[in-house]
Amino acid sequence: MKPVRVGLLGLGTVGGGTVTVLSRNSEEIARRAGRRIMLSHVAARNLERADELNLTNVRLTEDAFAVTNDPEVDVVVELMGGYEPARTVILKAIENGKHVVTANKALIALHGNEVFAAAQGKGVMVAFEAAVAGGIPVIKAVREGLSGNRIEWVAGIINGTGNFILSEMREKRRGFADVLAEAQRLGYAEADPTFDVEGVDAAHKLTILAATAFGIPLQFERVYTEGISQIAEEDISHAEELGYRIKHLGIARRTADGVELRVHPALIPYRRLIANVDGVMNAVLIKGDAVGPTLYYGAGAGAEPTASAVVADLVDVVRTLTSDPENRVPHLAFQPDALTDLRVLPMEEVKTAYYLRLQAADRPGVLADVASILGDRGISIEAVVQKEPLPDVQFVPLILLTHRVSERQMNEAIARIEDLESITGSVKRIRVEHLNA
Ligand code: HSE
Repeated sequence: MKPVRVGLLGLGTVGGGTVTVLSRNSEEIARRAGRRIMLSHVAARNLERADELNLTNVRLTEDAFAVTNDPEVDVVVELMGGYEPARTVILKAIENGKHVVTANKALIALHGNEVFAAAQGKGVMVAFEAAVAGGIPVIKAVREGLSGNRIEWVAGIINGTGNFILSEMREKRRGFADVLAEAQRLGYAEADPTFDVEGVDAAHKLTILAATAFGIPLQFERVYTEGISQIAEEDISHAEELGYRIKHLGIARRTADGVELRVHPALIPYRRLIANVDGVMNAVLIKGDAVGPTLYYGAGAGAEPTASAVVADLVDVVRTLTSDPENRVPHLAFQPDALTDLRVLPMEEVKTAYYLRLQAADRPGVLADVASILGDRGISIEAVVQKEPLPDVQFVPLILLTHRVSERQMNEAIARIEDLESITGSVKRIRVEHLNA
């Protein structure tokens, strides 16, 4: 059979990894796909990269549209990243009847509804495994392996850079900026690393996971997003003393009132497997009603791990090239006309447990004042730790763990606590997730 011809857009970290994996494993890949998969046309901003990657017998261009308009190209692999020109380029490829494989989570999270509708109209596939959790085949698991389940919740460490930073801060007591610079050197971080540390990248991925898990449209704008830049070393140590690790989580949960979509740091009991996922590794915990909890673990970023997902998508596309579009796995796991618009809960309605760190005056009655503010709102305290005062220091750290309460009630309680004359500065709040099956 004729080889399948691939047009590749982008020769950055993931593009380079894809070239390497396609070439090194070409025999195995052909045995799986049933046909050879060959690169035929490559677009990149820096064509010197093509020499470094030893790309021969391939047409090279700086113009992505030369690839999407090339009649010889069967499948376009978009690894440029960013919203534009990636969106226009992908829509052009679809218009030209080409299948698309992309690792672009930002694009799928924000423009996926438009892209999938266009693909549906043209009867082509848009595959995006590499967009979520790097090399972990989690989209495959949600869309296919778990399709007999009603999925109840998903909780994942889905940003490798953030996890790498938190792990190094805890294990080696390294500073935030120093670890971030290393993640950038290693090719884990986004072009704009604030996407990693402020939770935007994780929110992109959570948007995609939630849509495929619950059969809802992609709605990035409704994800509550908080990053890790406010996590202090002392919170990491206090959490550890209390038996928890701080991880940056993306959580999507179905409740009777609606769907929770939230990305934020969280304390997790250290005995949970997911609390022990360190470095650039990602893990996604998915609870289905039939299967119970399932955990998917692997490298969440990096050249070859992400290329592993890109190439798997290519193989999937090649295997179904001749199948009737109606009989393919739907882009968002559910048939497009069967998506439901479940209500997304505003953060104030979400209920979680909390870790609070206060700077309290070291004198009688302060703890009683704080406890009474919490008690008046029905907020039950699970643990309290007060540190011994250092000589000549008036304020001491007071750490509280609470039971579950709505964010609205906790916001009110925190405002009242901050008003106390015996409390200085702002109250540090980190949510606590037990992730019980
Ligand atoms: N910047 C991303 C991360 C890359 O650190 O996880 C993979 O999506």
